[in-house]
Amino acid sequence: VAQQNGEPHRPQLHFTPKKGWMNDPNGMVFLNGKYHLFFQHNPNATVWGPMHWGHATSTDLVHWNELPIALYPDSLGTIFSGSAVIDVNNTAGFGKNAMVAIYTNHSHEGEKAGTDKFQNQSIAYSLDEGKTWTKYKGNPVLRNPGIRDFRDPKVSWYAPGKKWIMTLATLDHITFYSSPDLKTWKEESRFGKNTGAHGGVWECPDLIAFNDNGKLVWVLIVNLNPGGPNGGSATQYFTGSFNGNTFTPNDTTIKWLDYGPDEYAGITWSNTGNRKLFLGWMSNWQYANVVPTKNWRSAMTLPRELGIKKINGQYVVVSTLAKEVDAVTRPLKTVPHVQVADHYEVVKASGNADGLFRLDLSGLPVTDFSIALTNTKGEAVIVGFDRTANQFYIDRTRSGATDFEKGFAKKHVAPRIATNSNLNLTIAGDAASLELFADNGATVMTSIFFPSEPLSGITITAPGNLQIKNLKYSTFVQNAQKR
Ligand code: FRU
Repeated sequence: VAQQNGEPHRPQLHFTPKKGWMNDPNGMVFLNGKYHLFFQHNPNATVWGPMHWGHATSTDLVHWNELPIALYPDSLGTIFSGSAVIDVNNTAGFGKNAMVAIYTNHSHEGEKAGTDKFQNQSIAYSLDEGKTWTKYKGNPVLRNPGIRDFRDPKVSWYAPGKKWIMTLATLDHITFYSSPDLKTWKEESRFGKNTGAHGGVWECPDLIAFNDNGKLVWVLIVNLNPGGPNGGSATQYFTGSFNGNTFTPNDTTIKWLDYGPDEYAGITWSNTGNRKLFLGWMSNWQYANVVPTKNWRSAMTLPRELGIKKINGQYVVVSTLAKEVDAVTRPLKTVPHVQVADHYEVVKASGNADGLFRLDLSGLPVTDFSIALTNTKGEAVIVGFDRTANQFYIDRTRSGATDFEKGFAKKHVAPRIATNSNLNLTIAGDAASLELFADNGATVMTSIFFPSEPLSGITITAPGNLQIKNLKYSTFVQNAQKR
């Protein structure tokens, strides 16, 4: 297991770079049976620094193969976040089915010269499935009009208007641009100055459409740093309509795709048809640079599939584990009608475990309970539900190493969004993280932690008598990430 390689916090199921620093997922695109994942990468250090686009591919969203770096810094700057598309109609003239990356060139010298030289949008293309890239001679393709924060282009094809739409984070709002050929861009509209959460800078947006029984529902994802519901970075979203020019929200409620502290910069894959596959960076800018890992820093979340659901008259984006994760799930114990009389031990903590587990609970009453994930060193992470507050929580106060950041040892909360009379939960655990999907993904929380030994014990506690209709405890195949 990972521990034996001297890397106790290296996840086995979640993607991590072999070495160096990683932040946002970039350029996620599907082509010829492969999911491409590019990522913000500093190969030369385990802290944020000059950004490159790292590259990995997978045929199943779980087993990743890390490839050589795709994009290196150039005379226009380092390579910040962005997206990739498959140019099926060869609109740019780079070739049919060219993979085109649209990213932000971030110039550190430009910052001194003036904000208009700081962040600009550029493109590059690959004709060999992302292995080698050519930067476009006419870069940048979209010049900064003088806004300091002008970045993270997410581009998609808007079929009714036969044009590309770029959703761009521009300080405290989104600016939509359109283009016939990915090379010339024209402003369409702006959204969000007075809507949504504004505790920090808007970053890494995404614009996607769901089909809700024949009705198109548009979702605008906007990552925010700081200002998240539990502090630091987090992913908010708006539901509404988009007509090719403007986005109109259908309510002003602030909604979070993941309420936990450790899902950020999450966006979806391009070119996956109706499936909306989502991946986030599993950290938080509050402490990302100082978490206690050695040869590499940060992991991605597990792949998630997004859906849309109406709850109490409002559209809610629900996230669940992508079904590809089921293929690497190995059930160990299924128990119907569990009676929790004060407490119920699902599994005892063992000193040589790897921290990989999945717990699926269905048919839980809406009442107080907690699930303690423990190890033999007395460390724990507690997941639970507080009926009075109508909140889920993850408490990592006693989770092992926490002193690298003042605010890390904390209990984080998230509202229950669903209103059904029963609860269900899926918790996916790896060496240094857990992802909680409650109520079929209506409330989601991601949390990282650094125990001195993996958390392998699971005990459910409830005051009084709790009945669980079905409990399924599984592990995941080990070492999904070959190294
Ligand atoms: C989000 C972000 C992006 C930027 C990138 C730089 O985490 O700040 O806005 O492009 O990281 O690495």
